[in-house]
Amino acid sequence: MAELRHYLQFKDFSREEYDHLFERARRIKEKFKGYEPYHPMFDRTLVMIFEKASTRTRLSFEAGMHQLGGSAIYLNTRDSQLGRGEPVEDAAQVVSRMSDIVMIRTFEQDIIERFASNSRVPVINGLTNEYHPCQILADIFTFIEHRGPIQGKTVTWIGDSNNMCNTWLQAAEVLGFNVHVSTPPGYEVEPERAGLYGTDHFEAFEDPLEACRGAHLVTTDVWTSMGFEAENEERMKAFADWCVDAEMMSVAAPDAVFMHCLPAHRGEEVTAEVIDGPQSVVWDEAENRLHAQKALMEYLVLGKVSN
Ligand code: CP
Ligand code: NVA
Repeated sequence: MAELRHYLQFKDFSREEYDHLFERARRIKEKFKGYEPYHPMFDRTLVMIFEKASTRTRLSFEAGMHQLGGSAIYLNTRDSQLGRGEPVEDAAQVVSRMSDIVMIRTFEQDIIERFASNSRVPVINGLTNEYHPCQILADIFTFIEHRGPIQGKTVTWIGDSNNMCNTWLQAAEVLGFNVHVSTPPGYEVEPERAGLYGTDHFEAFEDPLEACRGAHLVTTDVWTSMGFEAENEERMKAFADWCVDAEMMSVAAPDAVFMHCLPAHRGEEVTAEVIDGPQSVVWDEAENRLHAQKALMEYLVLGKVSN
């Protein structure tokens, strides 16, 4: 039995733990592709709590737990007592007495922190307003598969300084790479909200084209994240020039890859030419949520496994 650990933000794990997870993701993917059954989670239950919509996160956690030999239960705030004012601390006590691991997608980070403090089992952040660590885990695994180690490389983030951006910035500090960030005025990175130790691993650019120069990975996300829909109209105007296009990709490194966590809006944050073009690895990136999260669940429930 592993010691109780949670995965609430990227910096919760060390570089050495990520090296283990990337190797396990590779191995678990290899077993899956070879139709080799791997059921270390037999009789274990994952509870997934969603306060926001999802396609990939639900699918990858539910399929992943099933493939590991366990089962997954889906709860949302609409059809459970969670949406009717039951304290998150009470929900954590109850859910964690009936399950082996919990994944939560919610609003403020504080909600998941409170849940974790009252949980007897590991809690995984499946996206909050502040962070999306499971996505960056899969993104970096995808980069490694395509281009090798990420250490010393440059990742360019174009657009909103949202949960994805914050998590890339934490990953740069933990793993040792650089992030170029270009946001519209008024939407700049807030290092404290991003949970950064400093500003050494990122550089801010006013001009998105300049931010892309020499990048090994160019990435972006929706202009309006879930929970911020009321700002949509204002954001559509502010972000109009922060669309990743062929010109931006042409100044990046010749072998640069393009990533997007999805869902994407072609013609807004990225052109169809880029996301559907030869440098885009978005489908591998989406698939790798499955393999990376299987490695994550294995580590949190069973500790370091090698087979
Ligand atoms: N990228 C991602 O988390 O997708 P979903 O919102 O569909 O889960
Ligand atoms: N930044 C987006 C990511 C969706 C997967 C959001 O929070 O809505």
